[in-house]
Amino acid sequence: MALERKGYKVCQPVPADSDRIWQFMEEHFNEDEPILRSLKTNENNTWVDRFVRKEIRQNLIEPCLVEPTSIILEDSDGDIAGIKLGHPISIHNLPAPGYWSFNWIRNFPWLVPTKLYQYSYFSEFQSSEEYCNLKPASLLKSLNLENVFMGQMLGVSRGHRRKGLACDMIQRSMELAAKLGCQGYVVESSGIYSQMSYKKHQFQVMKEIFYEDFKDGQGNIVFNDTMEHKSVKMLFKPLS
Ligand SMILES: CC(C)(COP(=O)(O)OP(=O)(O)OC[C@H]1O[C@@H](n2cnc3c(N)ncnc32)[C@H](O)[C@@H]1OP(=O)(O)O)[C@@H](O)C(=O)NCCC(=O)NCCS
Repeated sequence: MALERKGYKVCQPVPADSDRIWQFMEEHFNEDEPILRSLKTNENNTWVDRFVRKEIRQNLIEPCLVEPTSIILEDSDGDIAGIKLGHPISIHNLPAPGYWSFNWIRNFPWLVPTKLYQYSYFSEFQSSEEYCNLKPASLLKSLNLENVFMGQMLGVSRGHRRKGLACDMIQRSMELAAKLGCQGYVVESSGIYSQMSYKKHQFQVMKEIFYEDFKDGQGNIVFNDTMEHKSVKMLFKPLS
């Protein structure tokens, strides 16, 4: 296979790889991906910062490591060069609700730490039908499918970008999803480069949400440090 010929090792991570993956994300992902950058995920170490990091790991990373459903690429030094995480969801085995519902804290914006207030909107952005609609039961209902593969983090380390690694990992992840019997592949793609990479694999756009349109109760744009990235695209590709 192409990646192996280029000297990369393709591995399937297990729960014990969680810290290593997070370390990779702190170095190569959280500052470059527009949502986690806007949430200032890498910054500071108050209880709110630790809480937000824990939530992101619990909801977006750990479910992808329970079974061998994700991919990591190691370079010739054994360092992570890329990650493509994901896991199947099925109406026959719905996971417990993930994100906390924080909406009540919005009644006291002057009392609540800014990051927690902002995180309450992130949580709504992910789960609400109006936005990404990522609650498994609701997502499957909207697609009229029994199961899909939920694609999560796609990241390539800064020194290995523009060599086709993202495209290759997406291909492998789709093959894995098809082998697992998934009827389709869903992904929340938050930046223009990942959107281009998925487009190369003929993903269809189900919905596009512009960052400038998603505001908090005080009229401020929630994801306010998105650099050149303008929108989240919810993407889908049928697999069978
Ligand atoms: C998005 C990301 C994973 C792309 O990884 P990559 O391995 O560099 O991507 P590829 O080399 O497979 O590129 C695929 C296509 O995307 C586009 N692309 C990727 N990076 C680009 C860039 N910096 N400038 C312009 N186009 C780019 C190109 O069309 C490219 O195809 P081409 O090289 O044949 O023209 C990487 O930039 C990254 O980790 N970003 C930070 C984390 C992030 O935002 N992840 C996405 C969250 S959903």
